[in-house]
Amino acid sequence: MHGLAQLTLVGVGPGDPQLITVAAVQAIEAAAVVAYPVAREGAEGMAARIAAPWISPQQRRLPLVFPMVAEAEPRRQAWHAAADALAAEVAAGQAVVLLCEGDSSLYASCSYVLLALAQRRPACPVRVIPGISAVSAAAAAASSQGHPWPLALQQEPLLIRPTPETEAELTALLEQAAATGTVLALLKLGHRWSWVQPLLAARGLLEQALFAQRVGWPDQLVQPAVLVSAAEQPYFSLLLIRQGWPAVLP
Ligand SMILES: C[S@@+](CC[C@H](N)C(=O)[O-])C[C@H]1O[C@@H](n2cnc3c(N)ncnc32)[C@H](O)[C@@H]1O
Repeated sequence: MHGLAQLTLVGVGPGDPQLITVAAVQAIEAAAVVAYPVAREGAEGMAARIAAPWISPQQRRLPLVFPMVAEAEPRRQAWHAAADALAAEVAAGQAVVLLCEGDSSLYASCSYVLLALAQRRPACPVRVIPGISAVSAAAAAASSQGHPWPLALQQEPLLIRPTPETEAELTALLEQAAATGTVLALLKLGHRWSWVQPLLAARGLLEQALFAQRVGWPDQLVQPAVLVSAAEQPYFSLLLIRQGWPAVLP
């Protein structure tokens, strides 16, 4: 039984198929077409892998290439092409889902499709289903392993952002976060860990940081950053840094 002719952007969580919401599973099951981002032709998409238990062989798969390059034009072309292809499926009467790793609004490929559609095909009906972000999943995993890791308490700000590109930028960010009691969640850590680790070590911050890699996958690694060597890490890794705590605690 297929659903309404519309496009649903579906956050599928960070890795564990159990961390997909009921709404996401229902949207996937009701879709005739399951679209998902891939980095190149023929590649397996991360979001498609996460949602695999919920996709049936009867559903048509539509991989959409979103090249991971720095240049603007190939990326713009890919977003426009994806928006046009998805809108065409919906116009032909299909219920379509576009899967998205983690949450569907947080540094998400499907957000570019959302913006491109609003610009090029504003009549295309769109729904967005949120997902569990890797940041939330990392904090929960740490707390489940005996390292209580509330992301934010009371008046604390929480800043989720990509890892800075330079030591100077990271130093400034750490100082500002310490001054304002801000908890940091640094995404896209990957290869930057080889210089981030010594910088945190020099500032005595490794004990206050949590390293999380491939959260929700069978090879998940979530541990205090002080236990992680300074070697480069995979793209799917992040860092949580808490430099202080509120005054009133249990
Ligand atoms: C483009 S962002 C996507 C964020 C995603 N939409 C979310 O809500 O979590 C990719 C970055 O998120 C982090 N990330 C995503 N999934 C992860 C996972 N399963 N384990 C650890 N980090 C993850 C990594 O820092 C990665 O470089």
